Amino acid sequence: MIIGGGPGGYVCAIRASQLGLKVGLVDKNKRLGGTCLNVGCIPSKALLHSTEIFHQIQKDASSHGVICPNLELDLGKMMKRKSQVVDQLGKGVRTLVSKKGVEIFQGSAKVLGDGKILVSNGSANQELQAQEIVLATGSSPVELPCMPFDGTHIVNSDQAIAFDQVPAELIVVGAGAIGLEMACVWSRLGAKVTIVEFLDEICPQLDPEVARITRKIFEKQGIHFILSSKVENSHIKNGRVYLTVSNNTGQTELSADRVLVAVGRKPYSQNLGIEDLNLETDEKGRVKVNNYFQTNVSGIRAIGDLIHGPMLAHKAEEDGVACAEILAGQAGHVDYSMVPGVIYTEPEVANLGISENQAKEHGINVCCGSFPLSGNGRAIATNSTDGIVKLVADAHTDRLLGAQIVAHGASEMIASVVAHMEYGGSAEDLARTIHAHPTLSESIKEAALSVDGRGLHSL
Ligand code: NAI
Repeated sequence: MIIGGGPGGYVCAIRASQLGLKVGLVDKNKRLGGTCLNVGCIPSKALLHSTEIFHQIQKDASSHGVICPNLELDLGKMMKRKSQVVDQLGKGVRTLVSKKGVEIFQGSAKVLGDGKILVSNGSANQELQAQEIVLATGSSPVELPCMPFDGTHIVNSDQAIAFDQVPAELIVVGAGAIGLEMACVWSRLGAKVTIVEFLDEICPQLDPEVARITRKIFEKQGIHFILSSKVENSHIKNGRVYLTVSNNTGQTELSADRVLVAVGRKPYSQNLGIEDLNLETDEKGRVKVNNYFQTNVSGIRAIGDLIHGPMLAHKAEEDGVACAEILAGQAGHVDYSMVPGVIYTEPEVANLGISENQAKEHGINVCCGSFPLSGNGRAIATNSTDGIVKLVADAHTDRLLGAQIVAHGASEMIASVVAHMEYGGSAEDLARTIHAHPTLSESIKEAALSVDGRGLHSL
């Protein structure tokens, strides 16, 4: 029995069924797909795409000789399209899962111990029995005590993808993946967006230089950043949110129509009954598992956002596959050092492995190569010159250790680097790989060449 039908749970169910196990999947929502499909990755990507079309026409079309004098926004239609996308994929996931022979149960699951699960869906309770239970209940947004969510003025990402009108002013707390993506969505539609970030730079996972370049690009797009700052308290008055923000020089007051709090997510295990089972968790509330996804309670495993590792859909999927394979007696394994991360802004921000800084912190001697998109022919032809590719390679062996790509379509570009790194490829391998011309991907080849100081198109 798998509890939770997000990318971790439903993929685990499919793989386990493929391997001949008898599998049940419980989810409290009728639509499977979890956070990713219902309120996360998918709806946000639908909105990011729609708003980018609007923004491109508004800001860029005239330079191409495309004149649109009466451009209008129909936010209702944009939201409807987003819902249709979610609906279509939701139906697809349900069909996939059931066609693979998985039995789906709708309701809230509570683990009772000894392989028993109670599934309640309001009207009825059902007790199920399983030999193995996999917990895949995901995560939920972190709430700050000084800014409790009210769902209207102070919101989390679930609500920020569903505003019924464009806020005139939006404050986003947290310059991570959610904060930046939502800031872009609403800023493109006309909101004045300010991002308050606790650290002294955005995207802590990035190389500081790449993060600074990225922030400058967003600033050019009109997003205002207040770094090294902390929200102390908040109040709502006449439909407006007021925040007291402090930094090392003192306090200021900010106000906006709406505030999105995007300061991270936490494992979601409420009402699962795991407290009664004494399931061990770590200091961040993550369920502790060993290499076989086993918790300290026999017969209960956990995967995805509920356990260690980045809280990303594709990581949860890999956990799901590996866990199912282990349950079927195979050797499932996930290489957590090869999980790409992407922020789907414009340009997109993709990263993999370690940055130059992290290499230094670990005492690894590295050589780096970078290439700006402004030197790439395709980027100039398509007006997408904002961005940079930076590669990190071991100075001794030349083995690739990390990549950061800020570029239009970086989410697709990073895939080739993942494949190279997965096979233990070197910067030289990548530099000698033929990339089609003209493509933005050529900047990866150029960055690889410049690891050895022999970039062909860099100054
Ligand atoms: P995050 O961890 O990516 O970023 C949170 C940011 O908030 C950090 O920069 C942090 O320094 C800052 N912060 C923390 N406390 C703060 C405070 N009190 N005041 C101001 N700033 C503060 O978290 P986010 O963006 O909420 O995303 C949650 C999870 O979902 C992450 O694991 C993320 O990777 C994942 N996600 C991934 C997406 C993608 O792959 N495109 C999209 C959305 C979410």
